[in-house]
Amino acid sequence: MMHPKAGNILSLFRSETGYISGEHFSRELGVSRTAVWKHISALRNDGYIIDAAPSRGYRLVFAPDTIDLHEVASKLDGIRIGRRLELHESTASTNSDAFRLAEAGAIEGTVVLADCQTGGKGRRGRLWASPAGVNLYCSIVLRPPIMPSEAPQLTFLSTVAAAKAIEQITKLNPEIKWPNDLLISGKKVAGLLNEMSAETDGINFVILGIGVNLNMTADQFPDDLRHPASSLLLESGVRVGRSLFTSTMLNELDRLYTDFLAHGFGPVREQWQQRCNASGRRVTVKDSGTECTEGRFIGIDTDGALLLRSDDDKLFRITCGDVRVI
Ligand code: BTN
Repeated sequence: MMHPKAGNILSLFRSETGYISGEHFSRELGVSRTAVWKHISALRNDGYIIDAAPSRGYRLVFAPDTIDLHEVASKLDGIRIGRRLELHESTASTNSDAFRLAEAGAIEGTVVLADCQTGGKGRRGRLWASPAGVNLYCSIVLRPPIMPSEAPQLTFLSTVAAAKAIEQITKLNPEIKWPNDLLISGKKVAGLLNEMSAETDGINFVILGIGVNLNMTADQFPDDLRHPASSLLLESGVRVGRSLFTSTMLNELDRLYTDFLAHGFGPVREQWQQRCNASGRRVTVKDSGTECTEGRFIGIDTDGALLLRSDDDKLFRITCGDVRVI
């Protein structure tokens, strides 16, 4: 993690333009000029480009988009999510980290973030591409007082939270593809993978796993993608600050979860359906295991199953399969 004095150096760079002398830093930070130089070197090692001119001092030329936990924490305004924050430079999977922490008793609202994942987990055992420096990889520990059968509702909740954060920060309008893919112009920009530890009569904990492709460039996507994918940068042309996106999404999640605990699944379901690309439309369904392959999308059930009305007016519950809007 960044040394607090290095954080102060960055704040000074941001508050003033042009070169700042070593003497000025040393006075403002209350440290020697040698110590200033050491912190500048550490920042350079972290990817900051800092120009040094003999009689003028230092000038910040480029700052990498690091996730800054102090910045994230300072912007959180909720009551549950983010009471404990952890950031890894590199990890196999934030979901696995959060799972382990939860097993060891971590409090509800614990958040694990990573700059990159070496074994990011996607749905159906697939890998989730997780390069460094560009995206959001986040897992949150919840301990909801609900039955295990109701846990899928929380996946829908996290999808709505990610969608709302995208709307706020980019002004793009993501669509939800059942069950929980977030698409922009038909391309996937975010994925959700929730995991659970439960007994028959209650939940020990749920891990909400959220991956959002923020600033990924075309060359960073794997070649063997099954469905088209994109990032917010590619779709909007604007870079998204990772710390700002993280705090915005955690605040949305906190509000939705608080509402969920007070009023149940109804408000989440409504907000999910407002954004679903199939709402009120005709869809085809493949590999669902039901005889119905085409019909009108009616909505989602309390367990997240898709409700489909066939042309002969029968109602079908679809729990898996590939749904396409006609
Ligand atoms: C999907 O396949 O759509 C789900 C992808 C979920 C990826 C996120 S990234 C953060 C968290 N950690 C993981 O290993 N997976 C989830």
